[in-house]
Amino acid sequence: MNSSDFKLKERVKELNCLYKLSKVAWEAKNDFDVIISKTLDILPAAMQHPNLAEASITIHSNEYSTPKFSSCKFVIESDLAVDKKKYGKVRIGYRSPLTKDSGKVSFLPEEKRLLKTVARELSLVIKRASIEEEKQKLQTQLQHVERLAFVGELSAGIAHELNEPLGRVLGFAQLIKKAGSLNEQQSEDIERIIKASLYSREIIKKLMIFSRQMPQQITKVNLNDIVHNILYFIDVRFQSRGITIIKQLDTALPVIYADEVQMSQVLVNLITNSVYAMPTGGEITVITKKKENQVSLVVKDTGTGMTADVRNKIFEPFFTTKPVGQGTGLGLSVVQGIVDSHDGKILVSSAVNKGTKFEIQLPLRQNKKK
Ligand SMILES: Nc1ncnc2c1ncn2[C@@H]1O[C@H](COP(=O)(O)OP(=O)(O)OP(=O)(O)O)[C@@H](O)[C@H]1O
Ligand SMILES: [Mg+2]
Repeated sequence: MNSSDFKLKERVKELNCLYKLSKVAWEAKNDFDVIISKTLDILPAAMQHPNLAEASITIHSNEYSTPKFSSCKFVIESDLAVDKKKYGKVRIGYRSPLTKDSGKVSFLPEEKRLLKTVARELSLVIKRASIEEEKQKLQTQLQHVERLAFVGELSAGIAHELNEPLGRVLGFAQLIKKAGSLNEQQSEDIERIIKASLYSREIIKKLMIFSRQMPQQITKVNLNDIVHNILYFIDVRFQSRGITIIKQLDTALPVIYADEVQMSQVLVNLITNSVYAMPTGGEITVITKKKENQVSLVVKDTGTGMTADVRNKIFEPFFTTKPVGQGTGLGLSVVQGIVDSHDGKILVSSAVNKGTKFEIQLPLRQNKKK
């Protein structure tokens, strides 16, 4: 092949590569991973020795490479930059030995130029993709917040409207029961009405706590006392289910200002979830501890754990993985409502088939704004 043929061939490869690159950017619809992996596929083919060429793209501290890039002896690189700020690089390399006759290689000027062009194009594509990604993320966040606010408002409204008629249903049912002179069937029916009303009232109460319609009674509270009280009632019941409860309580735990009933509710909801996640038994560890100017309440279990998908939704009101009738999906929404109103934070970590840990962090002093 004479030199002008060779140059022409290289030029064709180069143009082909650029063409494919622009197609990738278009087809990948700003999907970051697809753009990177397709670019890595395309680059080696544009080199003078495609069979020996490898490519690598580094963005921040993440490196994406073709399989044998690390064994390349001859490498050229070009920076990826946006607005003159470097954030990564594109590298092309040849594995050795390169040619039978020379062992040594120098990159053609065409190859160097191509690399520069690719880096420039890629910088633009990546910039566009990350702007798009950021936009999508913000949009989802916004939708999520809007939906939660909407559900909160709706729940508050429904709970409020239903509370009174429900109170009457319950009141009159109790009056009928008291009046006596009911036959067996009627007594049974009245009992059912009372039970169903009480159940509905519980749900309404949950909705009210979640949407912060319940007035708070803030007093000095020692979380250890709450743990003792709650576990006193449930400990024995769970032993028979193969569940051991371990307490690791900080004896020097300072008191906090909180609503005692609500704090008990938080603990009960977390423990109930843990118990449900351990149908064949396991361990629940309840920990209290002080960290700087906050106290933590931890409930840890050795249960089923959650997938990332479930984990992302657990605080959504009415989200449940339990069968119909077994869960309202309000437990953790209530926990979140309570913790928020105490200016606290919830940390969750979970691994499928290993277990789940909830940590409630509460400040020693609340903001006095509410
Ligand atoms: N400790 C845990 N281990 C595994 N999954 C959990 C745990 N805690 C919560 N989850 C998951 O989060 C979902 C939502 O929990 P949440 O307490 O809000 O509602 P629920 O328990 O389903 O119903 P409810 O509490 O109203 O009876 C559960 O259905 C379950 O999938
Ligand atoms: Mg629950």
